[in-house]
Amino acid sequence: PERRKLIAGNWKMNGLRAAGLELAKDLAGRLDAAGSVKFDMLVCPPATLVHSVAEAVAGTPLAVGGQDCHVAKSGAHTGDISAAMLADSGSTHVIVGHSERRQNHGEDDALVSAKASAAHQAGLVAIVCVGETLEQREAGKALDVVGTQVAGSIPAGATAANTVIAYEPVWAIGTGKTPTAADVAEVHAHIRKAIDGRIENPGQARILYGGSVKPSNAAELLSVDNVDGALVGGASLAADDFWGIAETC
Ligand code: G3H
Repeated sequence: PERRKLIAGNWKMNGLRAAGLELAKDLAGRLDAAGSVKFDMLVCPPATLVHSVAEAVAGTPLAVGGQDCHVAKSGAHTGDISAAMLADSGSTHVIVGHSERRQNHGEDDALVSAKASAAHQAGLVAIVCVGETLEQREAGKALDVVGTQVAGSIPAGATAANTVIAYEPVWAIGTGKTPTAADVAEVHAHIRKAIDGRIENPGQARILYGGSVKPSNAAELLSVDNVDGALVGGASLAADDFWGIAETC
């Protein structure tokens, strides 16, 4: 079967209650009004809003996810949130290994893999992020870096149903810069090969592109071979932009 595209919004550290709930309800309303659409839609609000957003959009096709989880189910980990807590709050997905976590919190592939495994144990879909820095791309190492991250960040037990890969070149995040369609195609084909033997049913696994996706470039990026959706940051904070991206599917 054809892979259904996933349009995922990562709100990052944005969203107070009123605006976050309004945005989520707006998107859920558009999905309901549209009836059948060609994409799945997910929003990942800050942890403070996961439960209220999930309640506000319950019964609509809009899915809700977390932005990170701890590897443990519970325990003495001040400030952390477990995958079980996210699931209990209405999440069906969680992003793990975002480059902002890798850079700002020193997360390595082994930790990302353990987080993805914790997500699976809690019944969540893990969105595992990978991507090279500008320095690595300019050194001609993008494919090697991404291949190594994929190999190290996918846990045993990963399937096409419980694992999504997101390719986000670090230099494209929040910068307005995007790789060419040819470069995206090259990396996504490389990832498709790299997940063989690591994700059950690899041909059905979704590989998202992320980094400065907006309505004006979404059609081109989403039509690239092996691009099965988008992980959107900035443009997921406005309903018109996020919906505009999804509508190009
Ligand atoms: O998770 C989302 C990405 O980091 C992309 O962010 O769309 O603001 O470039 P951006």
